[in-house]
Amino acid sequence: MSKWTPARIRALKGKDPFATVTVFDYTSALFADRAGLPYLLVGDSLGMTVLGHPSTLQVTMEVMLHHTAAVMRGVKTSMAVADLPFLSYQVSDDLAVQNAGRLLQEAGADAVKLEGGAERAPLIKRMVQNGIPVTGHIGLTPQSVKQIGYQVQGKSPEAAAKLKADALALQDAGAFSLVLEACPSDLATEITEALDIPTIGIGAGAGCDAQVLVYHDLLGLFPDMKPKFVKQYAQLGTQTSAALKQYAEEVKNRQFPGSEHCYS
Ligand code: KIV
Repeated sequence: MSKWTPARIRALKGKDPFATVTVFDYTSALFADRAGLPYLLVGDSLGMTVLGHPSTLQVTMEVMLHHTAAVMRGVKTSMAVADLPFLSYQVSDDLAVQNAGRLLQEAGADAVKLEGGAERAPLIKRMVQNGIPVTGHIGLTPQSVKQIGYQVQGKSPEAAAKLKADALALQDAGAFSLVLEACPSDLATEITEALDIPTIGIGAGAGCDAQVLVYHDLLGLFPDMKPKFVKQYAQLGTQTSAALKQYAEEVKNRQFPGSEHCYS
């Protein structure tokens, strides 16, 4: 199988839905690539899942470069899209293009993702004109948590119309795909049908072209954190705790290491 590209992802529009996942390091990328997922996202949610921050706002360019480079060492055929972190693209368009370019040039990312609606269209157009493929992200945009909280977006007719207009503006600007986060399923389906680029839903229902889940959520690494939109496909949190407890117990009881683990 040859490497996935933005053009190939775009061509999945209207075909069977496809799964995508956030990955944060070499190991998670290796697993996702081996599972055959075409599109991986180095999400700035790593601020919470990997670094223990309260939100994505603490994530910097240096952090994203570091984690994206690790992910790129784990992928062969998947393409990997790196999140532009908070303040890396809001201050000026010049800085934004430079930072997006750094994720491609220094970390090897295949594309970047940034949050925001029609107001980001000129910036996305400029990135695309300079050879930087972009995924848009609308609906619940976690970098605006201080403004909008972690609330479902697009619930009123006006808010729904704005989300749809934002989606069309990002497509017109040249985005090759669009993340729709936390919005009513009917609206996400309507937006998906109105676009020629794939929508990637998270908490946006089954009508999207693709789904994305955060790696730690789908593997159940945090058993007590289960928002409505998450399905846990494994219970790695519980299994990890049990394994570590058993290991500690066996060392204490001199059961580990056994003779089979020792050099003579
Ligand atoms: O950072 C992230 O994990 C994301 C996904 C939730 C889309 O942006």
